[in-house]
Amino acid sequence: MVNFKEEIAKLIAEHVEGLEISEIQDMVEIPQDPKMGDYAFPCFKLAKVLRKAPPLIAKGIAEGISGDSLFEKVEQVNAYVNMFISKEKFVSDVLSEVLTKKDDFGKSDMGGGKTVIVEYSSPNIAKPFHIGHIRSTVIGNSIYKIYDALGYNVVRINHLGDYGTQFGKMICAYRHWGNKEDVIREPIKTLLSYYTKFHVEVEEHPELDDEAREIFTKLEHGEKEETELWQWFRDESLKEFTRVYDMLGITFDSYAGESFYSDKMPRFVKELKDKGIMEESQGANIVNLEEYGLGIALITKSDGSTLYITRDIAAANYRKETYDFYKNIYVVASQQNLHFQQWKKILSLLGYEWEKDCIHVPFGLVSLEEGTMSTRHGRVVFLEDVLNKAVEKTREIIEEKNPNASSEDIDETAKTVGIGAVIFQELSNNRIKDYVFKWDKVLNFDGETGPYVQYTHARCASVLRKAGEETVSRAAALDGLNSEYLCSESAYELAKLLYKFPEVVADAGEKYEPSIVTRHIVDIAQSFNRFYHDEHILTDNEEEKIAKVALVLAAKTALKNGLALLGMKAPERM
Ligand code: ARG
Repeated sequence: MVNFKEEIAKLIAEHVEGLEISEIQDMVEIPQDPKMGDYAFPCFKLAKVLRKAPPLIAKGIAEGISGDSLFEKVEQVNAYVNMFISKEKFVSDVLSEVLTKKDDFGKSDMGGGKTVIVEYSSPNIAKPFHIGHIRSTVIGNSIYKIYDALGYNVVRINHLGDYGTQFGKMICAYRHWGNKEDVIREPIKTLLSYYTKFHVEVEEHPELDDEAREIFTKLEHGEKEETELWQWFRDESLKEFTRVYDMLGITFDSYAGESFYSDKMPRFVKELKDKGIMEESQGANIVNLEEYGLGIALITKSDGSTLYITRDIAAANYRKETYDFYKNIYVVASQQNLHFQQWKKILSLLGYEWEKDCIHVPFGLVSLEEGTMSTRHGRVVFLEDVLNKAVEKTREIIEEKNPNASSEDIDETAKTVGIGAVIFQELSNNRIKDYVFKWDKVLNFDGETGPYVQYTHARCASVLRKAGEETVSRAAALDGLNSEYLCSESAYELAKLLYKFPEVVADAGEKYEPSIVTRHIVDIAQSFNRFYHDEHILTDNEEEKIAKVALVLAAKTALKNGLALLGMKAPERM
């Protein structure tokens, strides 16, 4: 695509001395008010160098560049050169970019194949996979898609919470009160009930605690019976998680969770000791980070068992050695900020220079209208139930809107739109903000929601169906495209948003912020709908029709590619 800022800088460079093209390019602005032009060049800074009043400089530049075919109009206003790009040129340039790149529009090769790890979701096995987990799962998946589009080689890791003393308790409880059939029928709820029962019983029978600890030690030593039970709990839990991942269309390259590092920690415990970073305290091993305002990090307990952070130290090293990552990204709630700060500090004290490439991407809490969740009080909202409810509610809305649609069509659409709505809602706000999950907001077809964007995509598809294959294929091939017909305000605004799309994707990647993409595709959808209402698209004038259909096709392409970056499908009909 033409880089307009660069083209403008080249032209201006011919009329000012002593400035590099790249310096000029950095000074070119995009005015807030489109009346001030598509681009503007402020001349204040040049006054000193050129020893001339800024308005005079602006006047000289404006006169110098105004004849170029890039522009429709160039004006000097005070110290500014305001430039209006030739709409025809701009629109036809954008269209040829979008329509030749198609599914690849928005992608780039800036990553140059460098390896980026995105770790996300990472639930704890035998614990509910609840609505709180949706954030890491969905934000992480979108960050993966964005980095993939930017030309990185992405490795998706699910760092399962599948290790720790709680498994001693669970096995202990299972042996006392457990039942195989119940676990198979409903693994997570059943295992959780054992875990809860253990905590009740241990009040009366403290010896259960010793028993659980012994069991965990056996597990750590890889004893057959304990390992088999643990493995079984893990497999059954994963089956439940996978059901949810399938609904969301999410996959991973690796499920190397905490247990994977159980034999990889001693090396680092030793290294921490040898380098004098770790000290003993009441039989435990700690790293004192008080001087950095980060408290105390517990590395091993007095009984020798390791902790969450110990496994994260081993995991980061394993990832560096295995993948030689360029970036190692952790999409984990902001509640764990201190954990990640301690962990990064320890990696840096150990002298690993790649610590700077390890990035914690935090996000805020999700709460429910009915009040906060609490596992202890049984106020758990399972993610799977939320997704099913979204599909159900969407089906009702669609049935109401299309009383004649076939039930198979409705099934498929309800899934795409219902689940998409939940995903979109997750990615709508700045990730760091806490937010309240509200059904009305999620499923509103007219608001700034997933259904709205998907519906707009389906609307584009419907226009194309009506236009007919012949016209669409000519438009797609830019055959006889006359962009004169695309200079109206609404067409031009839409083209401008399309032009910005690749920049938006790069920006979202740099900031680890999918909501930047979400907002932009809402803008595109709104802009398309304005165009759709303002203009008669399928006119009798063949040339005009082809031009307009090309713009519809381009908008559809951008919406589809944008939705894909969020992990959503783009339905052809709704
Ligand atoms: N399993 C943890 C939890 O549910 C999240 C794991 C985050 N990742 C990590 N490498 N520490 O809270």
